[in-house]
Amino acid sequence: MARAPQPAARPGTEVAPGKSPNPDTLTVTDNRTGRSYEIPIQDGTIRALDLRKIKTGPDDFGLMTYDPAFTNSAACRSKITMIDGDRGILNYRGYPIEQLAEHSTYLETAYLILYGELPSRQQYDEWVYNITHHTIMHENLKQFIEGFRYDAHPMGMLISTVAALSTFYKEASQIFDPASRRSQQFRLIAKMPTLAAFAYRHSVGLPYAYPDNDLSYTGNFLNMLFKMTEVKYRPNPVIERALDVLFILHADHEQNCSTSAMRGVGSSHVDPYSAVAAAVAALYGPLHGGANEMVLRMLREIGSKGRIPEYIKRVKEGQVLLMGFGHRVYKNYDPRARIIKQIADQVFEVTGPNPLLDIALELERIALQDDYFVQRKLYPNVDFYSGLIYQSLRFPVEMFPVLFAIPRTAGWLAQWEEMLLDPEQKIARPRQIYTGPARRDYVAMEDRV
Ligand code: CMC
Repeated sequence: MARAPQPAARPGTEVAPGKSPNPDTLTVTDNRTGRSYEIPIQDGTIRALDLRKIKTGPDDFGLMTYDPAFTNSAACRSKITMIDGDRGILNYRGYPIEQLAEHSTYLETAYLILYGELPSRQQYDEWVYNITHHTIMHENLKQFIEGFRYDAHPMGMLISTVAALSTFYKEASQIFDPASRRSQQFRLIAKMPTLAAFAYRHSVGLPYAYPDNDLSYTGNFLNMLFKMTEVKYRPNPVIERALDVLFILHADHEQNCSTSAMRGVGSSHVDPYSAVAAAVAALYGPLHGGANEMVLRMLREIGSKGRIPEYIKRVKEGQVLLMGFGHRVYKNYDPRARIIKQIADQVFEVTGPNPLLDIALELERIALQDDYFVQRKLYPNVDFYSGLIYQSLRFPVEMFPVLFAIPRTAGWLAQWEEMLLDPEQKIARPRQIYTGPARRDYVAMEDRV
């Protein structure tokens, strides 16, 4: 039976001995002083600031929590994405990822993530029109791209060019103006594929291919990447849809490293282009969006099924990681990896089989039976198979994290806006435990030993 709501205890209230505590609280006894405190529990959480009342004396700063890498601290309330890592569930605004992958499009999902509801036909048409008509970028931006060397990593180019966009749209700094926010959301979602495709064309020495408004979001992206001399680029519908589904799967993933960067940098009230640049930078790292690139390199290094046991041995000895395995939140099969495995089959029917797939399947089979991985609940994550698909679609490995950044832009923007409009949020500013030297006096250079 549901319990009637209990009156909340006052934050960090000291409890009188013998008094029975409110059931929706945590009673903490400070053994340094013998005092007990009642701390309200809401949504399975206590407020870190409520611990501040726990002091040994008036000069004590008060108790803090220590949580490096935020493994057990909620930094926000969010209505966007729900993950149940133990059961392998991922929902955007309540809708299961499997249903969105089957029935939705990336742009519809982006709308859902940003505005909280699936669009009506009219809302959807307007949304698609607005995104489609913001895909062209200022010609000056090409000069930024041309300044990069031919072998520059496209993520480096993306970080720089998306940051540069803030200098083109000065009103972007008006972050509390809803109309300005909406314009920048259109621009960012629309222009990320253009920036990415231009970076790719620069790296392979091809002339830029301009956006084609007749094509879908992913169809146009393929056009800007792969159009050669044909008058009209016609994307293969299977590949266009596969990329669209991959974009749906990558659209948001609650408080991961890059989203936390977006929220953290955005909390200083900088414009969204600069904050997205920070998020792309966070995504660049091999433990985050760079992982699918590392998976492919790992599969190439393994080279054949016969060499898998030797690689697994090195993983277990702590010499290398099994890239594409493990996740901070999922302690079960990543639901996105399941869907990606199905897409891989569809793509390989068009492109022909990927020789590394056999190694990946065997690696997964062996790892899922091995005690090391079973005990640590290490399962394939989103990156384990996505790299194989991207490779079959002729993307160089350097483009893999870019293919993560483009769809994740919707999630970053939704999380950024939610953070801005949340009255409880302030500039992100964690505390530290200082472990350096105590105060000491400056010593002249000639007196230093
Ligand atoms: N290979 C081998 N051992 C691993 C791996 C792995 N991929 N991942 C975790 N472990 C071990 C880790 O060494 C630790 O062992 P022990 O308890 O003996 O010290 C144990 O499993 C727990 O790992 P953890 O480091 O506490 O887990 P975490 O939550 O801090 O790390 C992770 C999560 C994704 C960074 C990590 O699993 C990893 O580095 N995976 C490989 C990189 C990868 O595939 N990243 C993509 C993540 S999904 C895309 C995204 O959302 O960005």
